[in-house]
Amino acid sequence: MIAVSDSDFVTQGFHHVTMVSSDARRTLGFYRDVLGLGLVKQTVNFDLPDTYHLYFGDPRGAPGSLLTFFEWPRSPRGNWGVGGVHHVALGVADETEQLKWKRWLNDHGVSVSGPYNRGYFTSIYFADPDGQILEIATAGPGFDIDEPADALGRELVQPNPERLPDGRNESEIREKTYPEPVAAIDEKMALTGIHHVTGFTDDLAAADDFYGRTLGMRLIKKTVNQDDPDTLHYFWANYDGQRILPHSDMTLFGWPPSARRSREGTGQTHHIAFRAADEQQLAAWREYLLGQGFEVTDIRDRKYFKSIYFRSHDGLLHEIATDPPGFAVDEDPSRLGQSLSLPAWLEPRREEIAAGLRPLS
Ligand SMILES: [Fe+2]
Ligand SMILES: [Fe+2]
Repeated sequence: MIAVSDSDFVTQGFHHVTMVSSDARRTLGFYRDVLGLGLVKQTVNFDLPDTYHLYFGDPRGAPGSLLTFFEWPRSPRGNWGVGGVHHVALGVADETEQLKWKRWLNDHGVSVSGPYNRGYFTSIYFADPDGQILEIATAGPGFDIDEPADALGRELVQPNPERLPDGRNESEIREKTYPEPVAAIDEKMALTGIHHVTGFTDDLAAADDFYGRTLGMRLIKKTVNQDDPDTLHYFWANYDGQRILPHSDMTLFGWPPSARRSREGTGQTHHIAFRAADEQQLAAWREYLLGQGFEVTDIRDRKYFKSIYFRSHDGLLHEIATDPPGFAVDEDPSRLGQSLSLPAWLEPRREEIAAGLRPLS
């Protein structure tokens, strides 16, 4: 029996988000060369070893910064809907740096919408080459603009009318961009990891039970979808009543029960992973989730972390993954992702596996 306190069952935020790509080489060209993320590991899907699994993130591959991709060239296109993710938001320092992103993306042939003032942050939106919707969101001003910082999420908050579709000047928003071409992604412009993940549910009460009670987060904002003000938009995060932990914000749009469901496939998020401090804590999470009635996998060795998997009330696949050992376990930290890494049990098949993968460059 593992002794743990209740506070152990408060997630420390996102570990990674895994999406589906139809073409690993094109995905690499987008996330590394256009978004400026580091390729921190080039490996295969351990459950389907003839397909790539690419990991992008900050230079050391810190939890909370990681976006990972399965390459499924023959998969049908996925769809967002109930039980799925609508978009993944990455953080940026402020609106000036965000406008540079708009200019940079436009100049690289990526069409961008926004910047939209969401109140709590400002957002631009675009899609990756497979159609996965991405957002770049500013760090501030934060969730305490319309509620006290120590009492977030208690009341339904209506957005200021100028943030709603009828109050916005779309042509002004469309035209707003950085006045000069951006030569390179510099340090100030660098993306700061997962800002939030937004999905759909048809049962916000069940969602609050899942994120708020089971995963130990707290509802930090109850508001409406600012693009569709007839539907609700709830935000959860690791929040201690004072501050919100970075990389921990999960948000859901509330849809009616008849709404369409998500479909797995390219351009869609496959699963979202939350952090565990170590394997002992992961084992405790597993026992706890089993005790709550979830079907939970055994602990899987993903080489760079250990993981368990289970589904939320809507069917979205969730993972809890350990921080250790991390991506330097099999490569020099200054040379992460530069060649194909395989777990020991696949090393005997290296030649055959490498020959079956499409070259990345
Ligand atoms: Fe994962
Ligand atoms: Fe968002």
